[in-house]
Amino acid sequence: MKKILVTGGAGFIGSNFCNLSRKKFDVIALDNLFLGDKRNLDDEVTFVQGDAGSVEDLDKVGPVDYVLHLAGTSSAPLFAEDQFVEGYVNSVRCFVTTLDWARRNGVKKFLYASTSSLYANNPMPLTEDQHVKPPNHYAVTKELYEHCADCFHKVYPDMDLIGFRFMSVYGPNEEAKGKYANIISQFAWDIARDLEPVIYGDGSQTRDFTSVRDIVQGITLAIETEKKLGSKIFNIGTGRATSLNEIVSALAEAFEKPVRPKHIENPVKEGYVMGQHADISKIQAALGYQPKVILEDGIKEQVKQLRVERIKESSSDSLR
Ligand SMILES: NC(=O)c1ccc[n+]([C@@H]2O[C@H](COP(=O)([O-])OP(=O)(O)OC[C@H]3O[C@@H](n4cnc5c(N)ncnc54)[C@H](O)[C@@H]3O)[C@@H](O)[C@H]2O)c1
Repeated sequence: MKKILVTGGAGFIGSNFCNLSRKKFDVIALDNLFLGDKRNLDDEVTFVQGDAGSVEDLDKVGPVDYVLHLAGTSSAPLFAEDQFVEGYVNSVRCFVTTLDWARRNGVKKFLYASTSSLYANNPMPLTEDQHVKPPNHYAVTKELYEHCADCFHKVYPDMDLIGFRFMSVYGPNEEAKGKYANIISQFAWDIARDLEPVIYGDGSQTRDFTSVRDIVQGITLAIETEKKLGSKIFNIGTGRATSLNEIVSALAEAFEKPVRPKHIENPVKEGYVMGQHADISKIQAALGYQPKVILEDGIKEQVKQLRVERIKESSSDSLR
C-alpha cells in the first residue's frame, strides 16, 4: 500500500481525506491541533502530533510516497492585526519546510491546497488561466505557494507538484474551526441551537458549494494518475452556483423544521464576493473528475453527523 503524509490531517479537509482514503492508502495525519481535532480521525488512521514547519517533527513520520499538504493558516481573518505576522510565518514556513522535506525524502508527488479566494470577483466561470489578484493576505500566501511550486519544479522536475483551488467546501468535521468554518456549518450549528442564521443582504449571493467527498475524489485522482503532471493547478468544484437562500432551504429540509434567516445589511463594504462558480473542465479532461454529491444529499449527511458540543467558539459572531 502506498504511504501518504497528510499535513493538517486532523483538520476539516484533512480528516475527511484520511478517513475516506484509509483503505486505499496507508495514511499518516500530522497536525499541531491549532484548528484540528484528533477526534475527527478514525481510530485506524495513524496520528502524529507535530508542526509541519519542523523537520524534526516531519522526520517522525518516516518515508512516504506522497505528501498532501493542507497545514497552514487556513482563513483570511486569521491574518488580522496581532495575528498578521504569525499568519504568514506559519503558512510559509510549513509550505517550504514540507516541500523541501518531501524532495529530500524522494516523494513522488507533492499535492497542496491553494484556494479559490484567489479569484476574488473575477468573471465566471472561474478558470485556472485567469489573471488573479489576491484580495487578502490569506490568498497572497496561496498565490505564493503556486509560484514557489513552479520555481521548485524547474530545479527539481522529478517530483510532481499539484495545487488545488478548492471552491467552497462543506461536510462533516468542521466543529474545531469554530467561527472560521464554512457558512453551511455555521448555519447548521445556528439551526441546531434554535438560533436564526444571519445572512448578509438578500441572500442571492452564490458560492460553488462542493462536498468534501468530491474534494477527496479530485485529490485521489491526482495521486493515482499515471500521467506525469509536472507543476499544475486545478480547480475542484461542481461548476454550479448556489445561493445562500437555497442553502437555508436545503438545511430546513434536512432538519425537518422551518428556518427563518435574519437578513442584515452587508457590513463588508469592499470586495465582497457576490458570486462564485468554477470551470472544472481542466480537471475533468486531465483526471476524469466528475462531482458526484448532490448538494441536498451532502447537506443531509452533514446534519446527521453534527457534533455541536465540539464547536470551539460560538458561531454567533461568525465571519461570513
Ligand atoms: N475549507 C475550504 O473551503 C478551503 C477552501 C480553499 C482552500 N482551503 C485550504 O485547504 C487547507 C485545509 O483546509 P481546512 O478547511 O481543512 O482547514 P483546517 O484549518 O481545518 O485545516 C488545517 C489544519 O492544519 C493544522 N495546522 C495549522 N498550522 C499547522 C502547523 N504549523 N503544523 C501542523 N498543522 C498545522 C490545523 O490545526 C488544522 O487542523 C488549508 O490550507 C486551507 O487554506 C480550504
